Amino acid sequence: MNDWLKSYIKEEQTLVNDCIHSYLSDLHIPKRLKESVLYSVDAGGKRLRPILMKLTCEGFHGNAEKIYPAAIALEMIHTYSLIHDDLPAMDDDDYRRGRLTNHKQFDEATAILAGDALLTNSFHVISSNPFYTAEEKVHLVQKLSKASGMEGMVAGQFLDIESETKNISISEMEHIHHLKTGRLLSYAVEIGSYLAGESEEVIEKIKEFGDCIGLIFQIQDDILDVIGDETIMGKPAGSDVTNDKNTYTSLLGLEGAISRKNYYVQKAKQYLHEVGLIGSKLECLTDYLSDRDL
Ligand code: IPE
Ligand code: IPE
Ligand code: MG
Ligand code: MG
Ligand code: MG
Repeated sequence: MNDWLKSYIKEEQTLVNDCIHSYLSDLHIPKRLKESVLYSVDAGGKRLRPILMKLTCEGFHGNAEKIYPAAIALEMIHTYSLIHDDLPAMDDDDYRRGRLTNHKQFDEATAILAGDALLTNSFHVISSNPFYTAEEKVHLVQKLSKASGMEGMVAGQFLDIESETKNISISEMEHIHHLKTGRLLSYAVEIGSYLAGESEEVIEKIKEFGDCIGLIFQIQDDILDVIGDETIMGKPAGSDVTNDKNTYTSLLGLEGAISRKNYYVQKAKQYLHEVGLIGSKLECLTDYLSDRDL
């Protein structure tokens, strides 16, 4: 990984943690619920969604500080989705971000409620922030609820579970991946460009870029489930096979998945080119996401 990206991720992780801690410190939360929320928040996720939002905003010469409440809200929703994704009723995984999953460390009811809490309060983070205008708040909340809700990530998670043990086509699987992973990643770049004051036309293009990033990201996630190193990833490999999941590797084989990923990397870069961001840090991040081992 590029040295700048390594330190950028580290710095961003600290900033995101600080922001969530400072937000939570003003709230009256039952002790064990707060411990459970912080357990997952502090576990050291890569913070790729906030980083994508920030690099997009910076790429378009916006005020990158402005992304934080929206980025924190997005990361809270992402973290909730992982807590619920690991539950016995879903992927039934024991490790996440290098530690026991939330329901293993606490209990199922607490894990479900910690997820609910992160989801619900994410909208409070945006709507109570004094630095956004009323119009910006409505825009950010509307787009976030759409991207994460029953037409977005939740739909993807539902279809993903429903398709277990079924044979589905590549395009059906890609639709699932687009929803379960792509929508939140796409939200990151969409809002990064919105907060930089970009035009509708540019925002539409950058959303297409975000969709490609979502697929690149999920293809690599599927590849890592087959060939990844559990000690680096901090989550178990082989979970998809155990759960009879339709993945890029199960449908296309390892080589096929890699060439599909390379196709989307080229496509993503074409969109960056169209909005004048080729050669930017966002392009570096695209390469990192494609080759990541974590
Ligand atoms: C994992 O997301 C779940 C998928 C959407 C494939 P990340 O790999 O971004 O998880 P963290 O936040 O770094 O733990
Ligand atoms: C999870 O996808 C995506 C969401 C939580 C929205 P996966 O089930 O493939 O994620 P991992 O592999 O457990 O991180
Ligand atoms: Mg899953
Ligand atoms: Mg999972
Ligand atoms: Mg996976």
